[in-house]
Amino acid sequence: MDQFTIFGCFIFILRSCSGTQLEEDYLKFPPGFSIGSASSAYQVEGAWNVSGKTPSVWDWFTHKKDSTVMDQATGDIACDSYHKYKEDIAMMKDIGFRHYRFSLSWTRILPTGFPDKISQEGLQYYKDLIDEVRRQGMEPFVTIYHWDHPEFMNRLGSWTNELMVEYYAEYARIVFRELGSRVKVWATLNEPEQNCRLGFAKDVHAPGINLPYFGEYLCLHNYLKAHARAYQIYNEEFRAEQGGQVGIVHLCEHFFPQPSHDLETSRIGFECGCGWATHPIFSKEGNYPQVMRERVNGNSKLEGLPFSRLPKFSPDWIKRIRGSSDFLGINVYTAREVRAMPREKNGIWPNDFGTELIINETWPVNTAWLRVIPQALGEILRRIRDVYDNPPVYIMENGATSAKGVNDYNRIEYLHDYMKEMLLAINRDGCNVKGYTIWSFLDSFEWSEGYTDLFGLVEVDFTDPNRKRTPRLSTKWLKKIMQKGRLINIKDLGQLN
Ligand code: BGC
Repeated sequence: MDQFTIFGCFIFILRSCSGTQLEEDYLKFPPGFSIGSASSAYQVEGAWNVSGKTPSVWDWFTHKKDSTVMDQATGDIACDSYHKYKEDIAMMKDIGFRHYRFSLSWTRILPTGFPDKISQEGLQYYKDLIDEVRRQGMEPFVTIYHWDHPEFMNRLGSWTNELMVEYYAEYARIVFRELGSRVKVWATLNEPEQNCRLGFAKDVHAPGINLPYFGEYLCLHNYLKAHARAYQIYNEEFRAEQGGQVGIVHLCEHFFPQPSHDLETSRIGFECGCGWATHPIFSKEGNYPQVMRERVNGNSKLEGLPFSRLPKFSPDWIKRIRGSSDFLGINVYTAREVRAMPREKNGIWPNDFGTELIINETWPVNTAWLRVIPQALGEILRRIRDVYDNPPVYIMENGATSAKGVNDYNRIEYLHDYMKEMLLAINRDGCNVKGYTIWSFLDSFEWSEGYTDLFGLVEVDFTDPNRKRTPRLSTKWLKKIMQKGRLINIKDLGQLN
């Protein structure tokens, strides 16, 4: 070996050593980083008519004779977390989680939907739940609304009716007033975009309004106003005394361009996807993304409509919505590829945006809609960093289903690979991510899929009246991660069971 070869080898060894060391450092969770798991009221609580609770839109949707929910399942009993929450929280504490994200049921607190009547029993349930989370050393992350508004509001058009803005704001005020001394992290709303698409442009979710190209825009418009009102109420009436943070949770998926050099189409996919609800709050200028306005307004015009199907915010509303969040909560599961669509002969974009979303058949399948594509999490975090000036982000949902039984190796692999992408985005790329939340703690009512998609870290036996819980293998792996404060591969752990 001549001296150049020896020198070359030395440099190579040095590089790979420091590369490995660097990679090791990247896999540490930053100080103060919070890891937890999540649920939502309708999906786990059950006790649908207990303590004076009146029907929510999901009670109505699942009780309908012609319900389209898989196996005509309902959330009447669900995981019975209304009665079993202490058991659940004890298991979370055992894993070492730092937070628990759950939502409140509007009609459990306000049986008429309005503050004329407050159910003390319903309120007490949430006080006890929050106190228990705290007693076990975790932080409650409380979502005020996760899709289950009072049923009668449905007959008024639900989120297509602007009255919902003030109805929701009154509910939020009660919640801040009654529970705010116990809560430091609030999310006003969960995934408005998904609820508006599946429940207002389609009939897959409640309320099943099914008015494509109208329903979803109207719905989200009112959702954003409702969010801004709740934020304003918190600022004016509660922030000084309670000192919490108020944010919102959006579904933000990444769209890989097809072909890969078409970055503009990927950008448009982002603006009309995550950006639809995020841009009005987190961009400097506010309002819907420009490209989205141009395309929906343009299409509406070409269709001969005297107005745009995308409602317009007044300058006052643009101002009130802009900046109305202390953090951005995002839910990330999967990704799609996006391809530019040609205009139709009359110049119209077939789907308003001129983008076609495609599933890449080579991506591993988890469920019908969930393909496993961990890089997508890093991509979306970096885009949020760049487009919205690196706001504080909480990942409020990320997870995958597993088969029945406790050996959820596929979930461990999924969570490992997604968390790794997240940690690289934080530690290497400077993304401002404050927390990570696994969906979900328990197997639960999975909306249109009933009880067939099993997202739980903990298995629930839905045939057992006692809803027996059995922690899956992933809980043991997570416990090690929580102890070590860094991501570990299951292969480095040896046997878990
Ligand atoms: C929702 C959850 C749901 C999860 C998995 C998210 O869109 O917020 O309620 O269970 O996806 O389907």
